[in-house]
Amino acid sequence: MAAYDLIDHEYDVVVVGAGGAGLRATFGMVAAGLKTACVTKVFPTRSHTVAAQGGIGASLGNMAEDTWQWHMYDTVKGSDWLGDQDAIEYMCREAVPAVYELEHFGVPFSRTADGKIYQRPFGGHMRNFGEAPVQRACAAADRTGHAILHTLYQQSLKHNAEFFVEYFALDLLMDPVDGTCRGVIALDMATGELHRFRAHQTVLATGGYGRAYFSCTSAHTCTGDGNGMAARAGLPLQDHEFVQFHPTGIYGSGCLITEGARGEGGYLTNSAGERFMERYAPTAKDLASRDVVSRAMTMEIRESRGVGKDADHIHLHLEHLGADVLHARLPGITETAKIFAGVDATKEPIPVLPTVHYNMGGIPTNYMGEVLRPTAENPDAVCGGLMAVGEAACVSVHGANRLGTNSLLDLVVFGRAAAHRAAELVKPGTKHKPVPKSCDDLALSRLDRVRNANGSQTTQEIRSALQRTMQNDAAVFRTSQSLKEGCDKVSEIAGTLPQLKITDRSLVFNTDLTEALELENLMTCALATIYGAEARHESRGAHAHEDFPERDDETWMKHTLAVVDHDYKVSLDYRPVHTYTLTDEIEYIAPKKRVY
Ligand code: FUM
Repeated sequence: MAAYDLIDHEYDVVVVGAGGAGLRATFGMVAAGLKTACVTKVFPTRSHTVAAQGGIGASLGNMAEDTWQWHMYDTVKGSDWLGDQDAIEYMCREAVPAVYELEHFGVPFSRTADGKIYQRPFGGHMRNFGEAPVQRACAAADRTGHAILHTLYQQSLKHNAEFFVEYFALDLLMDPVDGTCRGVIALDMATGELHRFRAHQTVLATGGYGRAYFSCTSAHTCTGDGNGMAARAGLPLQDHEFVQFHPTGIYGSGCLITEGARGEGGYLTNSAGERFMERYAPTAKDLASRDVVSRAMTMEIRESRGVGKDADHIHLHLEHLGADVLHARLPGITETAKIFAGVDATKEPIPVLPTVHYNMGGIPTNYMGEVLRPTAENPDAVCGGLMAVGEAACVSVHGANRLGTNSLLDLVVFGRAAAHRAAELVKPGTKHKPVPKSCDDLALSRLDRVRNANGSQTTQEIRSALQRTMQNDAAVFRTSQSLKEGCDKVSEIAGTLPQLKITDRSLVFNTDLTEALELENLMTCALATIYGAEARHESRGAHAHEDFPERDDETWMKHTLAVVDHDYKVSLDYRPVHTYTLTDEIEYIAPKKRVY
């Protein structure tokens, strides 16, 4: 291996990622007096949070009566009883102060006539324990993520947070003696310099891995980098088999059309012009939760009631809402429909198709953001020095299926919780333990191997094979056969990684190199997804298994833990779901059949 010089830094905390969760954690930690570095592969305001549209969920009750207990009930039901109820209670209870905090930070929310934060209905959010839709999504038109991300970045600047922008995190520094995380090594993409950040807590806020699929709403940067680093550090990934398809990606491009469009009164039709959701979800109709709507759309297409010349998609109607409502409430998606579908949404329906949108699984954490390293004796054991927040993490508040608007909420609630926990755990300025040189090897040997890869296949070729396999074999509906074949194919594709070819050997802004490093992260995430799915012999939330169509709580109400080793071999284990709440202000919500 070539010799690599490292530039050393010492911080109390290092946060990897500058989306909503990373920024909220970063300035919360700075505000608590911790010397904090935020290392990010894209400029903060380009993080994927910017693309979130419809709203952030909180039971403010601005438009109609609402309570955090109803929000919690909906979230548990939405999770199909795979979510941890202590964490869900924490999130739904903290939602209200978290949104007011955002308002005070300066988020330009849309307003009601009397000046309150505007709230719209969203899939799966109901009043009075599932009775009928409620207006709970706090919205800034259909650019809520954009508004929140920019505000959080401004707050970070106000707190003088230190950023290392366009730094690509390679691997964690794990202490070989006690398994504690002691920091991270990152590549400055602009200069090719390597930086070693030593920290008492390292927070992974690296987002999801939607790009393991061919068609997704996620940015090209969503490559599961934190999940890959955690797996290479020997930690398990939790519940990766639960991948959310958003019902309304634009047919062809996959661009997101917010569920807020249906919240404002939009509806779906099939080739007969029928509002088919009335058959599948008589109460919530088009506002049933996402897994239910995506499956209904797929059933309509399968039964030859899709629209278009190939009968392979569905129509979303907004034209009856009128140009004024579309202009005021949904300006972003009106523009997106024009650009990506060539459709004037004020006059004609938008062609849509379920599209990969969100990863419910991730790095297991408790509700304070601490990463878990479960053991047989203690399934909630903590890995010292390491935290994870946002889509990279699996707290687990979304369980088998996330409700729309609960992602922006998860980012700010658990970003803030991680800041609070770090402030409890770390005394500012504490001296760092020496890290043995061997700690650097994981990052440096990987960098050197990939940089010098001299095989016959390009990153694009291997990535494309992976994405197409995941799209076909780990789709909205899954079968034993598709999943078995998928496992074999993804393992075979992982086996081609030693034949990778990199043409640019430099370290300076070498996208050939960084894309190959990202590909390894995607591969790890995809393997945990498809192997976890193949093993789960039931249907729950987003995991719709045609050979096992029922939910089986007795055998399967448990979290999957997938360990993906350095040879891309997967081993599975499980840990119990938390079936208790944090306080006695709400009782444990017992499983029942999930109908909308
Ligand atoms: O449909 C949407 O606006 C997406 C929201 C979400 O995923 O939370």
